[in-house]
Amino acid sequence: MSMKVPIQLTLNGEDKAEFIESGATLLKALREKFGDTSPKGGCNQGTCGACSVLVDGELRLACLTLAQTCGGAQVVTTAGLSKDGALHPLQRAFLEGFAAQCGFCTPGMVMAAKALLDQVPNPTREDVIEALAGNICRCTGYEPIINAVLSAARANSHSAA
Ligand code: FES
Ligand code: FES
Repeated sequence: MSMKVPIQLTLNGEDKAEFIESGATLLKALREKFGDTSPKGGCNQGTCGACSVLVDGELRLACLTLAQTCGGAQVVTTAGLSKDGALHPLQRAFLEGFAAQCGFCTPGMVMAAKALLDQVPNPTREDVIEALAGNICRCTGYEPIINAVLSAARANSHSAA
């Protein structure tokens, strides 16, 4: 019989508390306990990037992260990126640049891109390719995704100017 353990964390700015199975992944906790299905379970073994989220500002694979290790952490997912109904610049760039087809990889791609732009606001194309290297897309051929990230970076730098 699995043991339940308490966990408290901040998810997209909201305090959350739940009991989870000890040994549960952050992906399972987010989707099944905290009701945030934006991180996707693709491979569930750390190779596709679909489950990518930010934990205390760092990009993490939620399928390989024990939920218990995130007690007290600030977790951010794509569900928390829009503000007052307005899409985040990355979300807008993906939409306008047709960078999502089936959309399964999109939440992970957006979070990997956000982690990059938070550290490197004006990345080169090579920076973007490297930052997204852990995220698999079976639909787009990657070009529209890379272009969308570069476009969001440009939009950010114009709005900051
Ligand atoms: S579901 Fe986590 S890396 Fe694929
Ligand atoms: S849009 Fe389908 S896997 Fe990327």
